[in-house]
Amino acid sequence: MNKLPEDQMLKLAAQSMFDVFSSTAMGSMLVDRQHRIVWISESYKQFLPALGFDSAEAFVGKRVEEVVPNTLMNEVIDTGKPILVDLLSNQAGTFLVSRLPLRNAAGEVIGAFGMVLLDQPETTMQPLMTKFARLQRELDSARQQLAAQRRPKYSIASFIGSSAAAVEVKRQARRVAQTDSTVLLLGETGTGKELLAHGIHAASGRAGKPFVGVNIAAVPESLLEAEFFGVAPGAYTGAERKGRDGKFKAANGGTLLLDEIGDMPLALQSKLLRVLQEQEVEPLGSNQVQRIDVRVIAATSRDLPAMVADGTFRADLYYRLNVLPIRLPPLRERLADLEALVETLAEDISRRSGLPHKSLNADALDLLARHDWPGNIRELRNVLEQATLMTDDPSLGAAHFAPLLGVPARAVVAPPAPAAADSAAWMPLPQAVAELEARCIRLALQRTGGNKLAAARLLGIARATLYQKLPLATHNEPSHPGD
Ligand SMILES: Nc1ncnc2c1ncn2[C@@H]1O[C@H](COP(=O)(O)OP(=O)(O)OP(=O)(O)O)[C@@H](O)[C@H]1O
Ligand SMILES: [Mg+2]
Repeated sequence: MNKLPEDQMLKLAAQSMFDVFSSTAMGSMLVDRQHRIVWISESYKQFLPALGFDSAEAFVGKRVEEVVPNTLMNEVIDTGKPILVDLLSNQAGTFLVSRLPLRNAAGEVIGAFGMVLLDQPETTMQPLMTKFARLQRELDSARQQLAAQRRPKYSIASFIGSSAAAVEVKRQARRVAQTDSTVLLLGETGTGKELLAHGIHAASGRAGKPFVGVNIAAVPESLLEAEFFGVAPGAYTGAERKGRDGKFKAANGGTLLLDEIGDMPLALQSKLLRVLQEQEVEPLGSNQVQRIDVRVIAATSRDLPAMVADGTFRADLYYRLNVLPIRLPPLRERLADLEALVETLAEDISRRSGLPHKSLNADALDLLARHDWPGNIRELRNVLEQATLMTDDPSLGAAHFAPLLGVPARAVVAPPAPAAADSAAWMPLPQAVAELEARCIRLALQRTGGNKLAAARLLGIARATLYQKLPLATHNEPSHPGD
């Protein structure tokens, strides 16, 4: 036999390999550069009914990813890299498959060749299949756990309150939940901005998708950009070599809470504005943009218009965020909700601490209603928690709360003291003790109708002691009828 020229050898080799593969494989297909199926082998036709086709004519010409669930042929074409051995699972079964890119003389990818090497690999490849199944189960359960963690913890109804101000907040929250627009939550610290953001997400069409929060104030400025937009593989050496998704990507399909937006550095503000406008992010070190579908909820306790005025917050970003603002009222403006809040918070505290539930006496509620609550509901929660932990008493009175609120003792015993008296709050301890004594003596005398012996008994002191203290107690007292 004459020696064949090399290029002819190569041609024949390719032809023979193709013939061998396509005749021994359980099925094979050719796909073009545009992912369209251009040819399938006779044997491949056995899979068509399970894929929902009754003829090869209907199947050929379709984009492969549209008709073969979980295929990676499109990836092979786009990357030019073969996937020599893989398991493919879909409604037609589980198969051992191989996928090779096809190139023209210039080396450009012109399509891909795919083969089903074995169907029912369950029988012939039991060990591998068992491992595959186990990994698949582990992956499914990890995904479920992740979804459960990301499931909203609250609903809009978790925002407790039936005052006009609270009802209005909830009405606005329900309304914005129906839209995809950016929401801006404004309110002092501890007014429930984060709680409401969870509620809005849960009431929106995105409830089944992730809710992701970033606290801008808590992330070092130099890391914020990577945290937001992610890092492309190879952008850095070391730990970040593999690349990392940003929060926008993590929230894709769902909601992203940008907490403490007022703490965002100016340089990043313009990038954020672009992302909000384009719905596209560009990971660090990448020159490709990724489309994202994220609803943004921004929150801050800072005065954004003032920040715009002094140049620390971009006006254009402010207007972009301020489409649907919701103002959360401070607790002191909705004291009507105090009792309901106390009830819910006390229940939650007892559930989390395992301690018995403690109820509040009327005098305790009176005292709480006179406090200014600069830390709002978070402060209320802390105060309740401390009072609960500090005593074994089943119910909490004003005396339990007074030291926690920095209220002088006299305000505790006195039947509602005028609010103005409270602003004089601090005084030297001996004076405070003397005032408290005097008030107790006056109260005891009032209760006993002026009977000094009975009053001394009530107070647990000797009559002589009472007489001794009497001038002080009755001296300089405000007009107290009947005293
Ligand atoms: N209306 C409410 N009903 C019940 N609990 C609330 C309400 N508002 C706030 N809380 C509780 O108060 C605490 C503080 O709320 P949250 O963290 O949402 O406040 P914030 O406005 O985000 O505060 P900051 O500005 O300091 O971040 C949380 O424990 C939250 O569950
Ligand atoms: Mg917050």
